Amino acid sequence: MSNSRLMNSRVVVMLLVGVSAVVMLLYLHLATEVAHLHTSMHSHNAIDYHLDSVPAARGVLDVNNIVVIYNRVPKTGSTSFIGLAYDLCAKNKFNVIHINTTKNMPTLSLTDQMRFVYNVSNWVEKKPGIYHGHVAYLDFSRFGVIQQPIYINLIRKPLDRLISYYYFVRYGDDLRPNHIRRRMGDKMTLDECVAMDHQDCSPTHLWVQVPFFCGHHAECWVPGSSWALEQAKHNLVHKYLLVGVTEEMGDFVAMLEYSLPRLFKGAYDLYLSGKKSHIRKTVKKVMPSDETIAKLQNTKVWRLENDFYNFALDHFHFLRKKTLEEVVSLGRLMDRGQKFAYEKIKPKKT
Ligand SMILES: *[C@@H]1O[C@H](CO)[C@@H](O)[C@H](O)[C@H]1NC(C)=O
Ligand SMILES: *[C@@H]1O[C@H](CO)[C@@H](O)[C@H](O)[C@H]1NC(C)=O
Repeated sequence: MSNSRLMNSRVVVMLLVGVSAVVMLLYLHLATEVAHLHTSMHSHNAIDYHLDSVPAARGVLDVNNIVVIYNRVPKTGSTSFIGLAYDLCAKNKFNVIHINTTKNMPTLSLTDQMRFVYNVSNWVEKKPGIYHGHVAYLDFSRFGVIQQPIYINLIRKPLDRLISYYYFVRYGDDLRPNHIRRRMGDKMTLDECVAMDHQDCSPTHLWVQVPFFCGHHAECWVPGSSWALEQAKHNLVHKYLLVGVTEEMGDFVAMLEYSLPRLFKGAYDLYLSGKKSHIRKTVKKVMPSDETIAKLQNTKVWRLENDFYNFALDHFHFLRKKTLEEVVSLGRLMDRGQKFAYEKIKPKKT
């Protein structure tokens, strides 16, 4: 009996020793694993931290990576405005790129939309940069890109724009006097055109600024669509940094210089001094009669386009009043300066 009891306790002791050894080994193994994990976690933190300190990381506004898109509307003074950017790009070290769409088509196919969005987003050598061309607004967020471009634009009174366009395609301008235009040689005046309800001056030709701001949806291009007007207003307020009017281009340039100095520093002085050199004039323009004006204005297309113009004008005046002040002694507009401050910053650093 006592012998077998002794045997039993020996077995128990040996079992205990065995179990302890296994536990010990297991512990050592786990400890090394945990140590490994710690090191890798630390190095991970180091990488994250490094990424955060790179200005281009998401969420950080980096002026050296800015992309501005100016989707210019034909005959709104856009050549004068973009001339300022071309004059400043070398000095201010940014790029200006013209988007030449085939036959000046304002909307792109889905594949071209994709090509354009990815090319603009990834072309780091051309940042900061301004892209300009006659293309309708394109929402970059539809393509899953992180950095959105900054949209700017200029619009003009719809009838003035139409008159300018009508004579431009017939007579050209002083910038490229030998360039053959679409209706070169056609001597019909706008009055004659409207009187005979010719298709060259049908009210659908007024449907330009609304669809340019509305964008790449089919409904945008239905002349007189109220949905398109609402969409255009929505985009103007939510998707554009600033939209000026041709009639007040100087104020627009001043606002841009003060809000985007990385690109537009010096633009306002350049505009004031070189006003004439940037102007591109249509060779011949005949002012239409009151009757012609009344007939064009008595259309739904004109009413909606005019509504859009007035909406843009009110918004522009609201921002300008808040932003600029006229300094009489200097004879120029100045930024009103910073009107906000931070305080009650907690927790306090020790
Ligand atoms: C756009 O490209 C076409 C075809 O290459 C060319 O004829 C036209 O002059 C270009 N437009 C501008 C404004 O440079
Ligand atoms: C963007 O397009 C231009 C012209 O085709 C090309 O030279 C450039 O390499 C493209 N950039 C990227 C990042 O795709």
